[in-house]
Amino acid sequence: MVKSYATLFSITLLMLVSCGKEASLMKIERAPFAKLPDGRQVEQFTLVNAKGARATLINYGAIVTSLYMPDRNGKYDDMVLGFDTIDNYLKEPPYFGAIVGRYGNRIAHGRFTLDGKTHQLATNNGPNHLHGGPAGYDKVLWSAAPVQSDSAVGVKLSYLSRDGEEGYPGNLALHVTYWLTNLNQLRIDYEATTDQATLVNPTHHGYFNLAGQGEGDILGHELMIAADFFTAVDETLIPTGELQPVQGTPFDFTTATAIGARIQQSDQQLQYGGGYDHNWVLRKESGAPGLAATVYEAGSGRFMEVYTTEPGLQFYSGNFLDGTFVGKDGKRYNHRYGFCLEAQHYPDSPNKPDFPSVVLRPGETYSQTTIYQFSAR
Ligand code: BGC
Repeated sequence: MVKSYATLFSITLLMLVSCGKEASLMKIERAPFAKLPDGRQVEQFTLVNAKGARATLINYGAIVTSLYMPDRNGKYDDMVLGFDTIDNYLKEPPYFGAIVGRYGNRIAHGRFTLDGKTHQLATNNGPNHLHGGPAGYDKVLWSAAPVQSDSAVGVKLSYLSRDGEEGYPGNLALHVTYWLTNLNQLRIDYEATTDQATLVNPTHHGYFNLAGQGEGDILGHELMIAADFFTAVDETLIPTGELQPVQGTPFDFTTATAIGARIQQSDQQLQYGGGYDHNWVLRKESGAPGLAATVYEAGSGRFMEVYTTEPGLQFYSGNFLDGTFVGKDGKRYNHRYGFCLEAQHYPDSPNKPDFPSVVLRPGETYSQTTIYQFSAR
């Protein structure tokens, strides 16, 4: 008995010492990043966890501007595409690293009816509305405050999206907290409330490359998506409403498969997307975060797991990257140099009564948690 008390005491002491040590290695730095054309200050936050992984983000667009994770030899590289300066982020898409909303992905013809009233949103993507409109959440300045727990450092970003902004009804108070945990996770917690019935479907639009940003295309990355169906789309990438089985199609990622293995196949769905640009219907139960996808890059040994509370996952294979964008460190982003795994509700849900609802009403709280977890083997 005495011995076990002593053991317990030393374990507790060890835990306290290691917690203290971890806490002393964890860091949050806050610095000015740039000025917006109207003079408002954009800030940059640098997060360092106890293992030495590092992330930077800015409160313009709630953008993760870099994310350094180790390979199998402990070498750190930047996992996400992005820009060095604010000017590029101010321009049009590609939404590198941002939070998009109020509605991530497309709403057909920018139109929806809620409680009998029809709302018309901007059509900023052919005939459709995309990622909240031309001045969505990726194009606004959020307020920001550093946050810390025993096992993570983070930044809580808040934005009050006014009634009528980009055509959406209701004042929406949205909080997004990015955490860099000591388990090498980028964890994103979302919370929102409204004063009128509205739509809410924000997502994180990070473009990943596990070999390092700018280090070639992602076609060799091996992807698994925990889904047996995807939402088939029309030629404008709006779901037809059909949940199509992935089995026997290039959309079957139920076992890890190279992204490029079937991307060139003559398949109408692939042609519509110019590659993969579709929503997978996740197998997981809704509620607690469940496994949505894994990605492995053999060269570096890096492995990414995605967990989410959301029912859908948009896998976008960087089809519109064409070498026009010159990103961080002068790296040119050629075709398919990054991929996105965007946890969300299905595209065009407001017009598809059979899809899970995206309506938020006064008195309710929207919440989402999505985790990108990194390791190497
Ligand atoms: C969409 C793509 C779009 C991209 C913007 C993705 O979420 O599904 O169609 O081009 O965002 O960069």
